Amino acid sequence: MSTIDYSDKIPNNVNLSQDRALQRALEHWQPNYLAWWRDMGPEGSQDFDVYLRTAVSVDPQGWAQFGYVKMPDYRWGIFLNPGDADRRIHFGDHLGEPAWQDVPGEHRANLRRIIVTQGDTEPASVEQQRHLGLTAPSQYDLRNLFQVNVEEGRHLWAMVYLLHRYFGRDGREEAEALLERRSGDRDNPRILGAFNEKTPDWLSFFMFTYFTDRDGKFQLCALAESGFDPLARTTKFMLTEEAHHMFVGESGVSRVIQRTCEVMKQLGTDDPAKLRAAGVVDLPTIQRYLNFHFSVTIDLFGADQSSNAAIFYSSGLKGRFEEGKRGDDHLLKQDTYKVLELDGGRLVEKEVPMLNALNEVLRDDYIKDSVGGVNRWNKVIEKAGLPFRLSVPHKAFHRRIGALAGTRIAPDGRVVGDAEWNARVHEWLPSDEDRAFVASLMGRVVEPGRFANWIAPPATGINRQPVDFEYVRFA
Ligand SMILES: [Fe+2]
Ligand SMILES: [Fe+2]
Repeated sequence: MSTIDYSDKIPNNVNLSQDRALQRALEHWQPNYLAWWRDMGPEGSQDFDVYLRTAVSVDPQGWAQFGYVKMPDYRWGIFLNPGDADRRIHFGDHLGEPAWQDVPGEHRANLRRIIVTQGDTEPASVEQQRHLGLTAPSQYDLRNLFQVNVEEGRHLWAMVYLLHRYFGRDGREEAEALLERRSGDRDNPRILGAFNEKTPDWLSFFMFTYFTDRDGKFQLCALAESGFDPLARTTKFMLTEEAHHMFVGESGVSRVIQRTCEVMKQLGTDDPAKLRAAGVVDLPTIQRYLNFHFSVTIDLFGADQSSNAAIFYSSGLKGRFEEGKRGDDHLLKQDTYKVLELDGGRLVEKEVPMLNALNEVLRDDYIKDSVGGVNRWNKVIEKAGLPFRLSVPHKAFHRRIGALAGTRIAPDGRVVGDAEWNARVHEWLPSDEDRAFVASLMGRVVEPGRFANWIAPPATGINRQPVDFEYVRFA
């Protein structure tokens, strides 16, 4: 059951050939998907042979197989983790009932909305990243970008399978609409804000894969708890792919920092102007990029108080991060949680029913997790003997969603007036000038083993290949 059938047009481990109607519907969607990939996938890359990993089985030992693939020929398909026939719903009002193998009628609209919202982020990030290949800092990085892109494409497949299999005609219409929205489009944008932002340069890409793919991890972890078993099984497999995306982000930022520190020591300076003249990204600029991506990403968790979040939980559709490891009653009807609000010019904590605050609970779990990598980045600076330290901004900083939307809060959590905000915003968020500088560093480096000046090489290659391996063969 966990072996993937590659004889089918659509690789899968869900016995697709047993369900002719579903197979036909997906085979009808497939050319539209490929047309979308040609239009919106990585620019100018159609004929490259890329050293990619492909899933061959969902077993932990054997899912990754590496080889050269032209991306349009990537074996996108449908892979679910193995099921557990005795699985029970372990939170909410249906606690203890058998997990659903089909969509309960009463929860149909909410489930569809959850799946569509998750599905929409997948092609969105491919669209956001489609020009980056033109300015890759190395073959190694180019290959990692393409790996992330094809896997986001597969995540779209994962959600489209659920829509086609379980939601009939509405599901098929939603699947088409997922190929029609476009990141950043004025008339038909992607659903969530951060997925309409630009990813114009590689520092943004690394921040995005560190912070925003980590939002993906937390959303997928919450859905992996779902009482709707096919959703739980498909998101569990997606999580194994997501881990690589976050690795690309964490190691990418780390290598940028490492290179900057080398030049800081060589030149004996922390002057941003001198470092920029030497062609590396000064640490305060890295901090501003971090502030931007962190704040935009934590908005993705939604409003701090949300009746939808309560409904999704109580109805068993979406759990908490690591729901199964928590020792409470998994109903949460008596519990409270602290959220922040602005009261008379001060940030204050307010106790609210926990069920309504589950977006905030997930956001706080996310924040704890993202601090880990920032500490590891600081180790690189510390090892270089330099005093600078990066930090994540206060969670009220630069928010556009929830009770804190539009407030003026400094990265250190101080409430500031418009005057201070306007005077200092360029210390806190990337300015047009910062972005123009970072853009000016982006050039295309594609000889095997060579790296752009602004980034250090990685410690090891992909799949135990050497760093100077030919990861991409150009046509
Ligand atoms: Fe994804
Ligand atoms: Fe991802």
